[in-house]
Amino acid sequence: MGKVVVMDHPLIKHKLTFIRDKNTGSKEFRELVKEVAMLMAYEVTRELPLEEIEIETPVAKTKSQIISGKKLGIIPILRAGLGMVEGMLNLLPAAKVGHIGLYRDPETLEPVEYYCKLPTDVEERELIVLDPMLATGGSATAAINFLKDRGANNIKLMCLIAAPEGIEAVQKAHPDVDIYVAAVDEKLNDHAYIVPGLGDAGDRLFGTK
Ligand code: PRP
Ligand code: URA
Repeated sequence: MGKVVVMDHPLIKHKLTFIRDKNTGSKEFRELVKEVAMLMAYEVTRELPLEEIEIETPVAKTKSQIISGKKLGIIPILRAGLGMVEGMLNLLPAAKVGHIGLYRDPETLEPVEYYCKLPTDVEERELIVLDPMLATGGSATAAINFLKDRGANNIKLMCLIAAPEGIEAVQKAHPDVDIYVAAVDEKLNDHAYIVPGLGDAGDRLFGTK
């Protein structure tokens, strides 16, 4: 079973409080989501392999470590996952970005695909799927299915807020995928919104309703 890592660092908790607050406007919301994604990137990349190279400091020759040739891919689930891309790229500028467009049908709550553009060598990359919200888990499960159908086999999922139901659904469908979240909330409401959550992440990021 993949692990679930809850990143409860004080900085993340602090920023998440203002992300949740309904009085936070889109400009600040976007900024905070970017910052939390950047902080989470630190933990989600913790196990990247290193290699030793020889360099010369101004004082002496030495051996020092760099991230070894591992290719990374960042896969935001549209729309709301877009809000996390810049923060990740700030720390991982060489990563390629693939996009999967999904929306949750408000009636059936099933994810509907409308866009998919991935790096051509997706099967060789370590992929980090981004979505602020893991509610029923339907969207994340579908996105990971697309990636696996195209040969990907090294996938992590990174979300800001998860419901227990979403974590369980992804773990059941994809036991090989590690899940990184900033918070696990209490439950889903009757409309499958996370409680207390932050509301509709896409609408809050982009000022729609
Ligand atoms: C939201 C969110 C996730 C999904 C989570 O997207 O960003 O993708 O819902 O719900 P689930 O775990 O029950 O599938 P939404 O469908 O509202 O689309 P949007 O990002 O375009 O607003
Ligand atoms: N999608 C959101 O944007 N928020 C939720 O709480 C659930 C799904």
